[in-house]
Amino acid sequence: MTNNPGPPEGRPQEHTAPVTETVNPGPPQGRGPADGTHGPDDRENRENRENRGNRGNRANRDSKDAALDAFRVPAGEGAVTTDQGVRVDDTDNSLHVGERGPTLLEDFHLREKLTRFDHERIPERVVHARGAGAYGYFEPYESLAEYTCADFLQDPGRRTPVFVRFSTVQGPRGSADTVRDVRGFATKFYTRHGNYDLVGNNMPVFFIQDAVKFPDFVHAVKPEPPNEIPTGASAHDTFWDFCSLQPESTHMLMWVMSDRAIPRSFRMMQGFGVHTFRLVNAEGRGTFVKFHWKPRLGVCSQVWDEAQLTAGRDPDFHRRDLWEAIEAGAYPEWELGLQLIPEEDEFAFPFDLLDPTKLVPEELVPVRPVGRMVLNRNPENFFAETEQIAFHTANVVPGIDFTNDPLLQGRNFSYLDTQLIRLGGPNFSQLPVNRPIAEVRNNQRDGYGQQLIHPGPSYAPNSVGGCPAAMGGGRLPEGVFEHYQERVDGRAVRRRSPSFADHYSQAALFWHSMAAWEQEHITAAFAFELGKVGEQAVRQRMVDNLVHVDPALAAEVARRIGVAEPAPDQGQDQGREQAPQQESGLRASPALSLENLRGEGVATRRVAVLAGPGVVTAQVRAAHAQLAPAGAVVETLAARGGQLPGADGESVPVDRPLPTMASVLYDAVLLPDGAGEALRADPDVLRFVTEALRHGKPLAALGSGTELLRSAATAAGMKEHARLPGVLLHASDGEPDESFWPGFLALIANHRYPDRG
Ligand code: HEM
Repeated sequence: MTNNPGPPEGRPQEHTAPVTETVNPGPPQGRGPADGTHGPDDRENRENRENRGNRGNRANRDSKDAALDAFRVPAGEGAVTTDQGVRVDDTDNSLHVGERGPTLLEDFHLREKLTRFDHERIPERVVHARGAGAYGYFEPYESLAEYTCADFLQDPGRRTPVFVRFSTVQGPRGSADTVRDVRGFATKFYTRHGNYDLVGNNMPVFFIQDAVKFPDFVHAVKPEPPNEIPTGASAHDTFWDFCSLQPESTHMLMWVMSDRAIPRSFRMMQGFGVHTFRLVNAEGRGTFVKFHWKPRLGVCSQVWDEAQLTAGRDPDFHRRDLWEAIEAGAYPEWELGLQLIPEEDEFAFPFDLLDPTKLVPEELVPVRPVGRMVLNRNPENFFAETEQIAFHTANVVPGIDFTNDPLLQGRNFSYLDTQLIRLGGPNFSQLPVNRPIAEVRNNQRDGYGQQLIHPGPSYAPNSVGGCPAAMGGGRLPEGVFEHYQERVDGRAVRRRSPSFADHYSQAALFWHSMAAWEQEHITAAFAFELGKVGEQAVRQRMVDNLVHVDPALAAEVARRIGVAEPAPDQGQDQGREQAPQQESGLRASPALSLENLRGEGVATRRVAVLAGPGVVTAQVRAAHAQLAPAGAVVETLAARGGQLPGADGESVPVDRPLPTMASVLYDAVLLPDGAGEALRADPDVLRFVTEALRHGKPLAALGSGTELLRSAATAAGMKEHARLPGVLLHASDGEPDESFWPGFLALIANHRYPDRG
């Protein structure tokens, strides 16, 4: 009996390719399934790939990349054909009667071309529609066999290919990157034992506790039904109406109102699995686990004004940043960390591990670093790869299992369900980006878009041919998924556990963990968002809820939006009906503050050198020579492109015309000597510097550049420009001493100076 005959002969050998980062540099044997002419043996295809930057970089080949070869279409000059492979004589003119007469229906090329165009769009994701992604690898530091039999977590250094997609939640595909929102952080591990998807966010908690509320939550935050406003924003009535009536969202609101919701870059944000999952080792022992991704570059955010300006200056800011970093070889990297909790400690915490509105403070359970992930290859086709990738929380591999978190349980239904319509039927796992590198064998058949030819019968048991699939019958071989044998006993009830009822303790913990400037940003964010709400009752109810987080926060927000200040003991007590506010024993968790999460160094920080005619070219050159080797991206900006004449008869190249850029697209600014007077008269330059100052960015100025900085500080309402934090001045003529450039590098490495007043 053949339960499922292996891959047909002509199919690529992706199932047997070893999983290491650099394996299989040559083409896999076999023929592409979609089109006989596009196989991996096509020399032109290979050469094209080799010439295409990081996407074709052989050093970053892995088994998933090799498996994709079979589906790559050469970008050659060949003749245009129809989808049937018939060569076309003319693709610029349709077939008509005479030169000015009616078009003929028999023009099958015209009809096919238009039809294919008409059907190019698919539905966007119902949430997380806007995103960007990249390939890379994961490698563990150590064997985790003590906790899990997951194959990809056994051997230190063994690389498993991954694809990661980052996203916003609320906005449609075309919305801006830098809106205030949660960011998705979804990772597909192509392991030897099947695909494992860790579908997380950049915040460790969620808005709701039970999946049955997800449609309500999403309906509330999405643009409002009558006019589809606002795009990519939660600052509107229905979102705050819902949240004010649903106090379990309070903890998540604190995160979303913090600067975590406006990250500087995908490369500089943390990722979290959110739910408590379960690791299972070879003996079947379970350990609760929380997943963390920690970015090597540190966690950095924008400030709100900057994020709004960026949305206009470059709506693709995050997408571009990820793409350019990978193209430049500055591969983004995260460390995977685990919080491991023995099963016997399930009830050792003052919150419920199954409650997705709670985190486990790192001070109670430290995060153990267990491996690293590097993204080193951009996709070749956004639609084929980033749009068609399908993540699913239920895609787990042996050694990783679920818990009874009621949000997770609902997610385990929803992803496959939505992908059936988004990707047009049940065969989307055969799409190149979704295919496992592990072997696929089963009796699942047919359906829209079937790509495979399965010979033989498709039922089990059968007695008419082929070998039986390896399942059942005693001890399971390695690599077989066996569900964790949790004992479950109880009545079917539609009720929330009382252990989920404390909605404020961790919201308060988050608040008390923030630096003063973070608290001010959160306060301002609440005031902005609630200030956009038209319904006075909604504003009031939300402020009343905030009393339980911090009375001073509630009072300040109330003042700013013009509602009654709640008394400290006033407000809704919905969240506490069943359970008293619990004490975690912690008043603050330093691990939550951005203040403590800065990275080291200046790698990939973007520095603008503002120059004009008469600039001291030696300083412009020094900026490039001193900052670039440390990893910074230095660009010279001037009013016009081309060469810029300096004071010394020399000239320097202009990297970008200033009117095409803005300070929000840079992390730091240098004002060299020589052109200060002229630049001060240029309103674009003055705005550039003023914004950089207001957004807390590091600035350095030399000679006449210091006068420009003084004018900008005055325009920004800041006094004593020479004493501003994060500002480095060398006011006199001549070259600065040798401490200048290291000093500027140190300022840039600190990233941000939010206390400029
Ligand atoms: C009951 C709660 C939830 C439901 C029903 C749900 C449902 C969905 C759906 C239907 C999609 C679109 C998937 C697609 O079209 O491929 C999606 C995407 C996504 N969800 Fe959820 N979600 C829930 C909660 C969460 C939570 C708690 C997280 C974070 C831990 C999360 C993270 C994501 C991410 C990252 C994506 C984008 C995946 C991608 O890049 O393709 N979701 N979700």
